[in-house]
Amino acid sequence: MTQYEIAVIPGDGIGTEVVEAAMAVLKHCETSRGIDLNYTFHDFSADLYRRTGRRMTEADMDEIGKADAVLFGAMGLPDVRDANGLELGAQVDMRAHYGLFSSLRPVRLHAGVHSPVKADHIDMLVIRETSEGMFAGLSDFHEPSDDEASDRMTITRRTCEKLFGVAFDQARARHTRGTPGHVTLLHKSNALRSNVLMEKVFDEVAAENPDVATAKLYIDAGSMLMVTEPERFDVVVTENIFGDIVSEIAAGLVGGLGVAPSADISRERGVFQPSHGSAPDIAGKGIANPIAMILSAAMMLQWIGEKNDDGRCLSAARDIDDAVESTLASGPLARDLGGTASTQEVVDAVIGALPR
Ligand code: NAI
Ligand code: MG
Repeated sequence: MTQYEIAVIPGDGIGTEVVEAAMAVLKHCETSRGIDLNYTFHDFSADLYRRTGRRMTEADMDEIGKADAVLFGAMGLPDVRDANGLELGAQVDMRAHYGLFSSLRPVRLHAGVHSPVKADHIDMLVIRETSEGMFAGLSDFHEPSDDEASDRMTITRRTCEKLFGVAFDQARARHTRGTPGHVTLLHKSNALRSNVLMEKVFDEVAAENPDVATAKLYIDAGSMLMVTEPERFDVVVTENIFGDIVSEIAAGLVGGLGVAPSADISRERGVFQPSHGSAPDIAGKGIANPIAMILSAAMMLQWIGEKNDDGRCLSAARDIDDAVESTLASGPLARDLGGTASTQEVVDAVIGALPR
């Protein structure tokens, strides 16, 4: 049996709590589906940096990157900052170091979860570009100034081609599971030169994929339509900062961050983490909703299964999705979804719904 190496980074706040929860679910699947996962733990966090000055280095990321996949909780605390005034969080560094250019963020309204909008069917995949766009200038040199500051939006043909390739592949794969199978580009080519190029490359990639229908919307109108007509979206693809924002608008439609998983991937590597952060306001209370992290762990198994053509991992991923679906439908629900369940009670329910 193939053993897969999983590098685990619990991080800060509820990151540690939801990682523990997801690992309990994974352990169950290891037995039921005959999967062999070997975990190594990497104790990096903003809290560690505050206490010791130790932070994740390039060498650490090389070491962590030897694993088959990274399971990541959340990192960052609002008051732990670098000299440049920015928060310390390894997720952006890891995306750059591993060349993770796309963040897959499935957004699905599950039975049992209340949506703030009128829609009975929401099932989309927001794909956020994560290596350039509005984050491209992060490492630019800037003279410190209290009068002026700027950031840079850069779009490259190379990344767009890869990103849109992922979007069309995902649309096709989702279609086999019953979605409409189309791709919507959210952009701002009416005002930003970088986005003119993004739209041009999108049209080219679309022409190479004539079996998949497409739509293009300006990000502002698209954001509104996401709230008023979420049913019209299947795969949604966009640049870094638009995707950061729009993926959380979309998450808000289906129960919020507590149920919003993500996978930061390239063809070779994957970091699997919930869309939420360390949630200092509820950390340490045992009430964080573990569903987003559990679904991220399922995405990890799906990705490992596809990459290694390993049906057991694919089956385990499906088991977890089904168990989450039935737990949300019947309860118990965590507090962010209007229930009263603790993290542990939700985990127990999900494990109880998994095949023996
Ligand atoms: P957050 O996602 O941590 O929390 C936003 C709100 O959602 C809070 O009210 C929180 O209680 C709630 N929430 C989030 N996850 C939840 C869960 N699983 N169950 C129940 N409620 C949940 O975002 P915030 O407060 O803006 O950031 C807190 C820290 O996390 C910051 O230092 C930020 O930089 C960091 N962060 C880290 C991320 C990462 O590691 N990828 C992503 C986003 C933020
Ligand atoms: Mg965000």
